[in-house]
Amino acid sequence: MKHDIRDPQLAEQGKLRIEWAARDMPVLKQIRARFEKEKPLSDVKIGCCLHVTTETANLMIALKAGGAQVALCASNPLSTQDDVAASLVEHEGIPVFAVKGEDNDRYYDHIRSVLAAEPNITMDDGADLVSTIHTERKELIPEILGGSEETTTGVVRLRSMEQKGVLAYPIIAVNDSDTKHLFDNRYGTGQSTIDGILRATNILLAGATIVVCGYGWCGRGLAMRAKGMGARVIVTEVDALKALEAVMDGYRVMPLAQAAPEGDLFVTVTGNLKVVRAEHFQLMKDGAIVANSGHFNVELDLDALGKMAERRRNVREYVQEFTLADGKRIYLLGEGRLINLAAAEGHPACVMDMSFANQALAAEYLVVEGKKLERRVYGVPEKIDRHIAELKLKAMDVDIDILTAEQKSYLASWELGT
Ligand code: ADE
Repeated sequence: MKHDIRDPQLAEQGKLRIEWAARDMPVLKQIRARFEKEKPLSDVKIGCCLHVTTETANLMIALKAGGAQVALCASNPLSTQDDVAASLVEHEGIPVFAVKGEDNDRYYDHIRSVLAAEPNITMDDGADLVSTIHTERKELIPEILGGSEETTTGVVRLRSMEQKGVLAYPIIAVNDSDTKHLFDNRYGTGQSTIDGILRATNILLAGATIVVCGYGWCGRGLAMRAKGMGARVIVTEVDALKALEAVMDGYRVMPLAQAAPEGDLFVTVTGNLKVVRAEHFQLMKDGAIVANSGHFNVELDLDALGKMAERRRNVREYVQEFTLADGKRIYLLGEGRLINLAAAEGHPACVMDMSFANQALAAEYLVVEGKKLERRVYGVPEKIDRHIAELKLKAMDVDIDILTAEQKSYLASWELGT
């Protein structure tokens, strides 16, 4: 079996960590048990480009239990957990192509290695498999039932492909499920971004001014958690509605140029490029820290920062100091890559449980329905989304009320008023 990992000897440690995550993934566990019996993915080849974490490992194990042949590569050069990659190869017999810190060429070689297995389903986090298939391996398309996409940035890319008429097979936007973005993007990113920043720096958040760039679900989660830890939070936005929501959630909202001299820590979660630019770095105070938690490492203009710097040095793992001409120091975390996965372990298993339940059920759905779908981006069927919420609540031992017959008919009526 071909693979490319850091060190097979890390496998035992990886297995322990994968099992630890499994404790907090009860929904995926149930799906895996059903998959084991029913084998709904029999002989389906699934190519996966996901962050190689303990949670992803549990998804790979569930897909394999369902009869799939899976191959996995990383969806970011810095997010791989090498011990997890080793365990998947050594204990599960799953081909993995991922090494933490791999350079761009090796990253794309790994994507090509997954595509060499000629997948029938692609499972992406950022749409790199889809885009590589559409640019380099078009001949694979006839055998592809469909793909699924994990993250907002990937869905944006895929919708743009759909609109330009170039998308060649159907995609299920897992990100758009309520049981995904309302939890993973908000509570997952909120907590794991702070986790990454604290592991990298050990700074105190209480009393610090944190500038959160972007008030989507990730930004909302991050701002909420930072506030909860005593930080003074400033939000920057380009969207009037989101800005208004941030104001009414109790944050100060202003343009980044105005926030730049105030912030102790700047975190981008916008999904856009060059959000923090030279004109902003110029205004920051000595010692300002900048980090990104968006999917791609394009949100901080690192070329500009590099050009402005007279000196740079690594001062801690994941912390690089840039000294500008006037002597001011700016600290960059995790090379500007998503800090929650670069310096920490990504979202906790409890929340990835729902995201990856969506992925597993999306794969099953594509096997049944894929051939009937058009070359479009679809949401996960609402029935599946709701089913996942119900399973999660049950696993958390939370009961809810049910509508009475009278309430149901009231909701279905229009005649009754005051
Ligand atoms: N994205 C964010 N956190 C993640 C995790 N723990 N595993 C896989 N993908 C992730």
